[in-house]
Amino acid sequence: MIDPDLHPGWPAILSWGPVELHPLRRRDAVEWSRVRSANEDWLRPWEPTATVGWQARHTPAAYRAMRRMMARRARLGTSLPFAVRHEGRLVGQVTVDNVVRGALRAGYLGYWIDRSVAGRGIASLAVALVCDHAFGPVGLHRLQADIRPENLPSQRLVERLGFQQEGLLRRYLDIDGAWRDHLAYALLADDLPRGVLDRWQATAPGRPVD
Ligand SMILES: CC(C)(COP(=O)(O)OP(=O)(O)OC[C@H]1O[C@@H](n2cnc3c(N)ncnc32)[C@H](O)[C@@H]1OP(=O)(O)O)[C@@H](O)C(=O)NCCC(=O)NCCS
Repeated sequence: MIDPDLHPGWPAILSWGPVELHPLRRRDAVEWSRVRSANEDWLRPWEPTATVGWQARHTPAAYRAMRRMMARRARLGTSLPFAVRHEGRLVGQVTVDNVVRGALRAGYLGYWIDRSVAGRGIASLAVALVCDHAFGPVGLHRLQADIRPENLPSQRLVERLGFQQEGLLRRYLDIDGAWRDHLAYALLADDLPRGVLDRWQATAPGRPVD
């Protein structure tokens, strides 16, 4: 049972056109395992360092353990773990994690998309939907995205949605085998009075997610 006082705005289903986001589901284990296993080279440079190999971390059993952990965090109000579907197919995740309330009311964004559908605006649309939800029903004031300087598509994604770069975090996260510098990007609830989806649409005229 989710306590709405602890975590307003959760659980939720968000959608626009062929893209739907929903809380991670138990029955997604095999589909998640397949898509993550197929994307090792694409995703590994941006993922936390691990002692266990990629394939072992992406079995259906590994998904179920990860989902249970994320569902617990969601119940406690510290995480918003969404799966991303395009035309019904699981193609990625967007998570707001480490949510802190009180005077800060902030969370950290993480996201990935299946390489076979990258470059079509699906990831930026999914992140825009989550941002509007986090600033709306969830009640956050600040979303931060920390991105390696080498990750140009991810920087482009958040810049297009109106995030501002606030500085360089030196050797900030242990990613892909070493402590890596990250650029701190943030978006505040009042930065875009018309919302993030509106910004996404305004910056993609004639380029529907199809
Ligand atoms: C980051 C990621 C989610 C972006 O996905 P995507 O499908 O390319 O996202 P979108 O199509 O919505 O937008 C990406 C933007 O980057 C641009 N882009 C793509 N490759 C680029 C490159 N090499 N250099 C600069 N810009 C690039 C695209 O043109 C697009 O810009 P536009 O909207 O102005 O056309 C995807 O690359 C990914 O999953 N990467 C691996 C995991 C990862 O990096 N996660 C984020 C960690 S911070």
